[in-house]
Amino acid sequence: MPRPRRVFGSRTGGRRRPSGPRLPGPVGSLDVTHTRPAAVIVLAAGEGTRMKSATPKVLHTIGGRSLLHHAIAAARGLDPVHLEVVVRHERDRVAAHIASCDPDCLIADQDEIKGTGRAVECGLAALPDGLTGTVVVTYGDVPLLTTATLRDLLAVHEAQAGAVTVVTSHLADPFGYGRIVRDADGSVLRIIEEKDASADERLITEVNSGIYAFDAVVLREALAGLGTDNVQGEKYLTDVVGVARARGRTVAAYVLADVVQAEGVNDKIQLAKLGAELNRRTVEAAMREGAIIRDPATTWIDTTVSIGRDTVVYPNTQLLGATSVGADCEIGPDTTLTDMEVGDGATVCRTQASLSVIGPGATVGPWAYLRPGTELGADGKIGTFVETKNAHIGAGSRIPHLSYVGDATIGTGTNIGAASVFVNYDGVAKHRTVIGDQCRMGSDTMYVAPVTVGNGAYSGAGTVIRHDVPAGALVISDAPQRIVEGWVQEHRPGSESARAAAAAAAAAEGPVAGEAASGRHTGDDGEEQQR
Ligand code: UD1
Ligand code: CA
Repeated sequence: MPRPRRVFGSRTGGRRRPSGPRLPGPVGSLDVTHTRPAAVIVLAAGEGTRMKSATPKVLHTIGGRSLLHHAIAAARGLDPVHLEVVVRHERDRVAAHIASCDPDCLIADQDEIKGTGRAVECGLAALPDGLTGTVVVTYGDVPLLTTATLRDLLAVHEAQAGAVTVVTSHLADPFGYGRIVRDADGSVLRIIEEKDASADERLITEVNSGIYAFDAVVLREALAGLGTDNVQGEKYLTDVVGVARARGRTVAAYVLADVVQAEGVNDKIQLAKLGAELNRRTVEAAMREGAIIRDPATTWIDTTVSIGRDTVVYPNTQLLGATSVGADCEIGPDTTLTDMEVGDGATVCRTQASLSVIGPGATVGPWAYLRPGTELGADGKIGTFVETKNAHIGAGSRIPHLSYVGDATIGTGTNIGAASVFVNYDGVAKHRTVIGDQCRMGSDTMYVAPVTVGNGAYSGAGTVIRHDVPAGALVISDAPQRIVEGWVQEHRPGSESARAAAAAAAAAEGPVAGEAASGRHTGDDGEEQQR
């Protein structure tokens, strides 16, 4: 008899790690060393009104993770001494989410004074007094930024021995962004916000991404001196650049060629755009690692998924959450796998499945539905129009057609006949069915749980199993078959069924009538039957 195995974590809990190789980040690093930053401060206090959503902006997801989780993961990759998120809007909800993404992440509260400068000031206030070293600032709504890019920023910052290094990019349409104002010698002078800019300044196409590396001391001192004398009446983080320059300190720019990495999400159109771009990058990374993706445009893969070599993914397939797929599998078309573990060489066609295991060489679908807790053993089969839940199905066992298997333990090499139902619910509680090894269970068998079937047992078609079946036994529900002759003519006179029955009777009665009814010569057989 097989034994129940481990229980899984949920997708939202997300603690289960895929066992296969991780997909690498899509963009390479300059590969320069830098010292460990003193802190990364992720800004996430803004309201995000343009999202028009009951969900805080930074909690919206792409690629299987919230925008904020992407930002935290990229920052965590730098291994900063302190990692902190500044919150305000929907504070408790966002704080709880941060704790679930990264329990060691600190949370700082922004007060009622507005602006990115104030947000960083509040962030610094929650860190140890007199913090020195490098402080990196990123945004919670910029999800494609990679750790590699942040490393490059630090490398540039240290190479220039600067007070501030700002990540910039050149945009064909710079509208809405802060512009980088450079000196005649090309060095960065200051950053001017769109709303505060002159007509000439608005022509500048180099924009502020909002991502920076700061010297902690310069940052703290500059913020303390800043006011809110601007069109928006906010304390601008961008003004730190001008202050540092005025004090004769170096301000550098790190120009990011991969501009999407600096793009933020402000509305649901940008959410979809960056979601599609992230997916494009994830699908490409999977192909670089050896997966064969037939239709990248209709394949959606979360950043947390791993896929083995030479596995073929067919169109309209979603691989989500902590899913890991082995090598040499065939997945899809039209398949959604969430938090799944799929062994090498498995085939999964037109299937919806979550929190389950498909063993190596196993076959699933077409049109299968695997609910949480299904474990299909090596070379097993869950076939067409089959639903499973909390079902441990041993190696080589098969449920080929039209069945529901809930709360079951099935041994190895057993066959479950078509249209069988594991009757697990008595209206009050769920019960388990246990079936042994090498059983041959007939079609349309009902297992009224709790019930146990021993090794090697057989069941006849249409059996209702209410009591345990010993090993090697045949179980049949052999209520006698009853025939009520002429029931249709009597109870459904004049119906199509009655006419068809009459034609059959006439055919049986004689050659002449029979020929007229059936259109063929019945010969001696008709006479034979007449007697
Ligand atoms: C900011 C920059 C701008 C830059 C742009 C890039 C300033 C003054 N301007 O403008 O130069 O081109 O980002 O996207 O910094 N936030 C807080 N607390 C606040 C305000 C904002 O935490 O009081 C957070 C938001 O949650 C968001 C980030 O800071 O994650 C940026 O805020 P947002 O209002 O979008 O800044 P922009 O006006 O776009
Ligand atoms: Ca913004």
